[in-house]
Amino acid sequence: MQTTREHWGNKLGFILAAAGSAVGLGNIWKFPYITGENGGAAFIIIYLLCIMLIGLPVLIAEILLGRYAQKGPISTFRDFARRHKKIWTAGGILFFITGFIILGYYNVIAGWSLGYVFESISGHIAGISSSADAATHFRELVSNPVWTLFWHFIFVAAGGLVVYFGVRNGIERIARLLMPVFFLILIFLVFWGVSLDGEGKGLTFLFQPDWSTINFKTVLIALGHAFFTLSVGMGVLLTYGSYLDKNDNLLFCGSMIVILDTLIALMAGLAIFTSVFGMGFDPAEGPGLVFNVLPAVFSIMPAGSIFSLLFFTLLSIAALTSTISILEMLVSTLLDETRFSRHHIVIVLSLLIFVLGIPAALSFGGWSHVRLFDMTMFDIMDYLSANILLPFGGLLVAVFVAWVLKKNTVLNELYRGIAEKSALRKTGDTWYFLLKYVAPVLIILVFLSITGII
Ligand code: PFF
Repeated sequence: MQTTREHWGNKLGFILAAAGSAVGLGNIWKFPYITGENGGAAFIIIYLLCIMLIGLPVLIAEILLGRYAQKGPISTFRDFARRHKKIWTAGGILFFITGFIILGYYNVIAGWSLGYVFESISGHIAGISSSADAATHFRELVSNPVWTLFWHFIFVAAGGLVVYFGVRNGIERIARLLMPVFFLILIFLVFWGVSLDGEGKGLTFLFQPDWSTINFKTVLIALGHAFFTLSVGMGVLLTYGSYLDKNDNLLFCGSMIVILDTLIALMAGLAIFTSVFGMGFDPAEGPGLVFNVLPAVFSIMPAGSIFSLLFFTLLSIAALTSTISILEMLVSTLLDETRFSRHHIVIVLSLLIFVLGIPAALSFGGWSHVRLFDMTMFDIMDYLSANILLPFGGLLVAVFVAWVLKKNTVLNELYRGIAEKSALRKTGDTWYFLLKYVAPVLIILVFLSITGII
């Protein structure tokens, strides 16, 4: 049982750590390729609407719930539900399971990024001369069990090491160190990319909407991604919120996290699409965009090895600050619920996560034939967590905060630490309305559509 709860050093530490959780493979690996597949600018506009109408309200609610309860997800739901305690506890357990599944496969891709840092250093990327070459190289690497499992292991161990040192000495310290480095590398890559995009095709693709590409399915993809990219819906931000000081302004903190996450996704899109168009590649390359196309782009651009090294370092940093947030949620839950120490919990969880990731890692090689509903183990873990468990978790948070807790309690918690409360009343009321009605209805629509009911 945890006796005293750790807290962030200050508000900036929290914002950097939470933004570190939000900014991850979702922004740099996933956002560009789904934008590429779904037509560019029009998709981005819909995605931004989803972020504002659902992502931001639920994100603030999740942080608020954590700060109010000062506990991890399971204890929060169990202790603060007035009725149906067992069902709500099950909801908390679902968060735990979701985190576990996401970590299993997320660490695999994170491991690839780290592996590609070393591919860049060893000169292998420089030797690639075409997109086909890059794709072959990628396939060879990811189907090699020694390569994938080695990097998977290293990544799980790195995340475990950070969380081992705790909230302030581990997570906050690493976020303070790495997030500025991340930002600097990204700015550098954006300038480089824009300077390559002589004809401005990348910029047009990103900023000139073509509405003919949008249909109902596109809207749903944008909605689903809003959850994933903001780390909403599995208790990670609830856990980070539980380490937050009672006097920090939640509306400000929440908005900062969302602004940073969105800005970084757009910057990553800029860096990637200007390079891709600048070098004449296809933007609709799919999940392989980053690993298949970019190495080919890097190999033929001036000083491409440096660009490649910087890019994959950026991707690895983004992934690390996200994996540690998920691991911390798992650790904090077990600290609440058991008598084990943080150190023991981290070691055991890391080993389990490594084992869980093995089927995901082997899905690209020896186990590619192991399929359920025609999906590999990796696809199943990704589909189940991102498309089903996260939207469902977001719904739980919205319902718990807006329908189970009393409105007064919630608004008092929201305005805590804000000097000019009256100035923010309208914002608070709008947030509450979005949380209570708009977000749940839209989430249910997403949920129904991805389960094939509508
Ligand atoms: N937000 C992370 C990304 O965009 O890569 C992924 C993620 C982290 C999802 C933490 C969910 C989560 F709880």
